[in-house]
Amino acid sequence: MGTSTGDIVDLAGMGGEFARDPYRVYAELRALGPVHRVRMPEGADAWVVVGHDEVRAMLNDPRLSKEIRHASESFSLPFVAAGPHMLNLDPPHHSRLRKLVTKEFTPRRVQAMAPRVQEMTDELIDAMLVAPDRRADLVDALSFPLPMGVICELLGVPSLDRDAFRGWSNTVVGSAPPQEKREAAAEVAAYLAELVAAKRQEPGDDLMSALIRTTDEDGDRLSPEELLGMAWILLVAGHETTVNLISNGVLALLTHPDQLADLRADFGLLDNAVEEMLRYDGPVETPTFRFTTEPLEIGGTLIPAGELVLPALADADRDPARFPEPDRFDIRRDARGHVAFGHGIHYCLGAPLARLEARIAVRSLLERCPDLALDAHPAALTWREGLLIRGPHRLPVSF
Ligand code: HEM
Repeated sequence: MGTSTGDIVDLAGMGGEFARDPYRVYAELRALGPVHRVRMPEGADAWVVVGHDEVRAMLNDPRLSKEIRHASESFSLPFVAAGPHMLNLDPPHHSRLRKLVTKEFTPRRVQAMAPRVQEMTDELIDAMLVAPDRRADLVDALSFPLPMGVICELLGVPSLDRDAFRGWSNTVVGSAPPQEKREAAAEVAAYLAELVAAKRQEPGDDLMSALIRTTDEDGDRLSPEELLGMAWILLVAGHETTVNLISNGVLALLTHPDQLADLRADFGLLDNAVEEMLRYDGPVETPTFRFTTEPLEIGGTLIPAGELVLPALADADRDPARFPEPDRFDIRRDARGHVAFGHGIHYCLGAPLARLEARIAVRSLLERCPDLALDAHPAALTWREGLLIRGPHRLPVSF
């Protein structure tokens, strides 16, 4: 890899090879120390933190800020969003926004959605199964449309142009050039503003209407920009991630036939299997941006103020100091303590919903497709580039 402390590790230069297997690179870095200067596929330089304990500590360190105003002037990546939201704000603004939606995502509220999620899953699998050649791209057939459909219904925007939204969203969270990201974000902002305007005209029994009406306990209404930011973060976080939990999880099963057979034989293992999918190949490789608000020393390395720090969730969950034989996919292991949903005050709001969707999708798929198999060599799959999201572009399956 050609790195020593002080060098920049050129992840961008590793291209598709790094996207296919970032775990090996992170493990090599971890052997050298907990913090490394890297060139991101997105084009900027950052500090990557590896190791389970170090990553957890960083996720919960108030000296790291989510707000772009703390970035040094030389920071070159655009911070694109339709408005201020939970993942680009610190307390107290973050706490106020989060409080407004927390009650919508409690495990109880989410469990009530199970019958509808099952119905949507059944419809998607019905449509997939009619293919005369008994083949499909699972990303297109199930992994993408299920979470996108669920979050659209929850928000009350069933008419959202899902393909257009998927394109903009993929551009913004991937490694596209900054100008393309800005343009995509502007298109989403304009599109969401129209959706909100239509919702104001015709409110319904849904989250978006509730947010438009809502006042928190201090009688504090969401500003128009905050409303756009909230719609944006829920739509993006609600689908960019779960799509890859379903795809990466099914891929892990199809490439580990013994584990697949065990799960088919006993669906009592399902909840644990989903936790192991999150640990083994989770959808978020490094979370959204954090900047040092003051010089910060980690493992003997001093990071100046204003720098981008990326705690590698993917590496934390493959650290042998926390998970024995971490590269083994084992649906019976105790995967608790994984950080696939983050940690601390920004811990994933949608975790109960993501778990529900993945459990229903995986179980239904296996029950309906007794001969489900990967229809490509695993090495032939191509992976999303950029450090945020981990998942294959397509997942060809036969059934
Ligand atoms: C498997 C699926 C998912 C994974 C792996 C995941 C992962 C994460 C992670 C790692 C964070 C923390 C980011 C950081 O600290 O920078 C996060 C935050 C968040 N997630 Fe998820 N997520 C998933 C699904 C969802 C869903 C379905 C929703 C939907 C509604 C959602 C909404 C959010 C929101 C709103 C935040 C920000 C919370 C805050 O800042 O307080 N996520 N997610």
